[in-house]
Amino acid sequence: MNLLKKLLARKPLSRVRIAGGEVEFEVGRNKTVLESALENGLAYPHDCTVGTCGACRTRLLSGKVDAITPFGYTLSREELEAGYILACQAVPETDLEIAVELGEGGQTLRTTARLVALRELTHDIREASWEAEAKLSYRAGQYMNVTWPGAPGPRSYSFSGAPVEGGTTRLTTFIRKVPGGAFTERLFGEDMSAVPFAIDGPHGGFWLREGEGPILLISGGSGLSPLMSLLSDAVAHGVARDAVLLFGGRAERDLYCLDEIAGIAGQWRGSFDFRPVLSEVETPGRRFGMVTGEIADAIATLGGVAGLQAYLCGPPGMIDAGVAALVAAGVPLGDIHYDKFTDASTRTG
Ligand SMILES: Cc1cc2nc3c(=O)[nH]c(=O)nc-3n(C[C@H](O)[C@H](O)[C@H](O)COP(=O)(O)OP(=O)(O)OC[C@H]3O[C@@H](n4cnc5c(N)ncnc54)[C@H](O)[C@@H]3O)c2cc1C
Ligand code: FES
Repeated sequence: MNLLKKLLARKPLSRVRIAGGEVEFEVGRNKTVLESALENGLAYPHDCTVGTCGACRTRLLSGKVDAITPFGYTLSREELEAGYILACQAVPETDLEIAVELGEGGQTLRTTARLVALRELTHDIREASWEAEAKLSYRAGQYMNVTWPGAPGPRSYSFSGAPVEGGTTRLTTFIRKVPGGAFTERLFGEDMSAVPFAIDGPHGGFWLREGEGPILLISGGSGLSPLMSLLSDAVAHGVARDAVLLFGGRAERDLYCLDEIAGIAGQWRGSFDFRPVLSEVETPGRRFGMVTGEIADAIATLGGVAGLQAYLCGPPGMIDAGVAALVAAGVPLGDIHYDKFTDASTRTG
């Protein structure tokens, strides 16, 4: 039976229960789990809504779904075997029980913002500071969507600063120039200070989970942005877990925030090991190779996988390789958290 016939034959409503809490919602006829969750006002993690970023990955505990596009385009074999689905592509065939972590408070804000400062971090990454009209509250690790008049679609940027209690109008993000990119070419090439940006957020489910075990953080390029937020916030809250931060670049000129990271290391209450890894230029005192090639060694430093949580942020290829390496090392998928920095090329690819 083709998908259309299946959809038409489907019973009108399914109920979805989120395990471990009181949350239950109805999924309308022919709707996806994500669409209905958002219609019900839930802060369901998502980004692209078209099955490419993995942000809406959800563990299906019971019930059956149809996939609009196969989950395997985005999820790893390990994730599929563990029962993960993509909520934005999942149309329920039955009532469902799922496991997913909703965002805090469930409230996202839409407001306007101006770009008020740009700071060079590397040859192709800038810190962009935004001044919003209204205060935005977020969790360390989350991101906002940004649009501008005539934009082909929203662009997502993760906050680099630690959250401020009660919210803040000053938002900082690290932005990498993507050659041919609709937004980043402009950001690096012209003065955008007068542009009335529309922003909305916070979004995403990338934040530090509770626990006492060690944490392994892996980033590449501007993927350091949410990790700086997460680490600064963890310092402010006196987190005392052992940590390794792997940071991948091609050459020394790709490394940045070294002083800030040294500051975090100095205040960190557990052990803190910062390991830059360069993939193209062998440099004395630096590890050489792919950043994900350092995962096994980092896990050994942290005393093994027991209680370990992993946080990855950066380009999709790095995340896929990182998740595979973590799973191969024995880290349960439920303890691996990531944000893939997809763009127009990776979304359509
Ligand atoms: C959750 C999340 C968080 C993110 N956080 C950050 C962050 O903190 N910092 C950061 O730097 N980035 C982040 N990103 C990526 C960011 O949202 C943008 O995708 C990125 O900045 C590129 O935007 P752009 O408009 O410059 O490029 P785009 O216009 O998206 O183009 C990107 C590339 O795709 C090519 N392209 C355009 N259209 C097509 C097409 N149809 N087919 C094939 N190729 C095409 C372009 O030539 C270009 O090379 C994040 C992404 C996600 C999903
Ligand atoms: S929101 Fe579902 S894969 Fe991106």
